[in-house]
Order: sequence, then C-alpha cells, then structure tokens
Amino acid sequence: MNTPDSVERSAFGTLPDGRRVDLYRIVNGNGVEMEVTNYGGIITSLKTPDAQGRLDDIVLGFGSLDGYLSDAYRQSNPYFGALIGRYGNRIAGGTFELNGKTYDLAKNDGPNHLHGGDKGFNRVLWNATPFENDSGSGLMLTYTSADGEEGYPGKLDVEVTYTLTDNNELAIDYKATTTRATPVNLTQHSYFNLGGEGSGDILDHQVMINADEFTPINETLIPTGEIKSVKGTPFDFTKATAIGERINDDNQQLVRARGYDHNFVIDRASATDDTLVLAARVSDPESGRVMEVATTEPGIQFYSGNFLDGTLTGKGGNAYGHRSGLALETQHYPDSPNQADFPSTILKPGDTYQSRTVYTFSTE
Ligand code: BGC
Repeated sequence: MNTPDSVERSAFGTLPDGRRVDLYRIVNGNGVEMEVTNYGGIITSLKTPDAQGRLDDIVLGFGSLDGYLSDAYRQSNPYFGALIGRYGNRIAGGTFELNGKTYDLAKNDGPNHLHGGDKGFNRVLWNATPFENDSGSGLMLTYTSADGEEGYPGKLDVEVTYTLTDNNELAIDYKATTTRATPVNLTQHSYFNLGGEGSGDILDHQVMINADEFTPINETLIPTGEIKSVKGTPFDFTKATAIGERINDDNQQLVRARGYDHNFVIDRASATDDTLVLAARVSDPESGRVMEVATTEPGIQFYSGNFLDGTLTGKGGNAYGHRSGLALETQHYPDSPNQADFPSTILKPGDTYQSRTVYTFSTE
C-alpha cells in the first residue's frame, strides 16, 4: 500500500533490540497536524489552532524515541499519549478470576495492576498502515498480544485506527478478537494542555463531564464498588467548572487521588451501546481552544496530572510540572474483572470488541 500524500513517514529512533521505529505525520485540510509513532501507538504531537488561528502543540510528549525509553520516563511512567491495553486502568491486587481459574498479573502500581502491566501495549511496536479515505486520513495500527502475555489469557488480535478528519476530529476506533475469554479495556492516554504543552498547569481549564455519578475509590485508587451521585460534591462537572476551583477541597476522594483521578459514569440514558455520546468538554479561556470527547464507552477517567512533578522535560524544552496536562480516558470502569456489578469487560472467542472515541477540536 502506498503512503497517501497526507501522511508522511520518517525515522523516530531505534529500539534496544535494533528494530526501527517510525513517526507518521498526518495533516488535514485545515492545517491541523498530528504525529504518531508505531512504538506504543503514541501520539507525540497534535497541533491545533487557537481562537486567533495560531497553531500550538496541545499534547505532552517527546520529540524522539529516546524520551520515551529513558529511565526517568519509565520510572515515573506517565503513559504520555500512548495506547493502553490489554486492560486500561487498575485491577485490584493484580489478580482476577475467570471461569474458575485465577490469573496473576504484574503489580506495577503499588499493590495493583495498572494499564496492562510491565510491558503494556504502550511499550510494544505496532504494525502501521497509513491510509486516506472519505472521512480523512490516518494510521491503522495492529498488534497481536500472545496467549499469556503479561499474564492474560488468550491470543488477542488488536486493531486501532486513528483518523484525522477535515472537521478537526480525531477518531479512534478499537477492535479486538481473542482465542480465549479475557478482560479487554482499551484506551488512549494523551495528556492535553489546551494552552500548549509546557505552558503551565491546566487548573484554569473549564471542564464539563456528562455524568451524574462516579465510582469512588479506596486508598489504592481501586473503586469501592459504590456508584455515587456527584451532586453537592467537587465531582459535579455537569456544568462547566474550572478544574482548580475545588481540586484542593478537603474531600476524602480528592485527598486519596491527590486531585482528580476518577472514573465518571457517562450518562448514556437514551443511547444504545454503539452510539457516540458526548462524555466531556474542555475549554481554555486563555487560548479559546475547545475539546469535546464523545464515546461509545460507559466510563471516562478524568485524571488531572497529579503525579507529574517537573522531573520530565518535554519536546519544547519545558518541564512538565504538577497538573501541567489532563487526561480523559474513555473506558469501562476500573477493576471490572473483580466487580460483578460493573459492566463486563470480558471478551469471548467469536465475539468482537469494538469501541469508538472521537475528540473534536474547535475554538470559542
Ligand atoms: C491513572 C493515574 C496514573 C496515570 C499515569 C492514569 O490513567 O488514572 O492514576 O497515575 O494514568 O500512570
């Protein structure tokens, strides 16, 4: 397949085992530009116009593969821009039972399993195929996760498609099939700063989350199982509110997560499983940039970058300080394999996992 004109491929670096890693630059008709590497399916750069038409890079990341391979990066492991799997978010105690068998996974986040384990989908090399079609241009990424990889059952064939459209949308389509029943929860872990990466914190960003409920967490950030109303709490984002307005409130949930790091239950009342529902809207009063997130998923993790501490310096030469980016990860609820009352994340042989999330960029 020939690379279409709207997608440019260049070298991004070399893995320790000698494999070459590529970077793909995708540009739409309005000059919105995105760079993706086949290492971890990482979105390394995304340039969108502000209200004055000025392009800035609004995602955190690095300008070369070395940034993602460095010891400092791997130790703090923020998962900048990466595809997350086989199971996004936490699994309590790094263990779950399925069909009478116990599966033990890496405990790579205190006592828990996080984002697929020691070598999740964020750290593997994907096969990449650039394309151009009626809706836009982009990159199709495929990866086969071996039976038993990171402790999970079943050989999982995964396909993720990034499409950049001329409506300034980034559509992400996920597909997977398995040879044995397995939990699957795929997501994308971009950190956004609508003022531009490296421009400071995101506390002035206004956030709306289409959720009347969220899933409170215990001391190790595992859902307690309760589905709690956001009413009267700092988790009520049903009306747009500045992130910083309540983030330091004396609230047990905020203290536990050191800010926002919670799964919100998207209001899908009148929607069928495969329809896109607006999950969140973020706006930056300073630049005028707006981002909307729509998804077929039932949940969204709002993470306010609480664990960023200035030790990593990004592609623009600026340190990524506390809360200098935010993530909105569409997903099934955390720890679902151990929570019978949560929507199931088990994919069975013969079935196809399918999920779609669309980020739309505009200005006001
Ligand atoms: C989690 C955070 C975690 C971050 C980076 C987010 O998805 O919710 O708790 O620190 O990923 O690892």
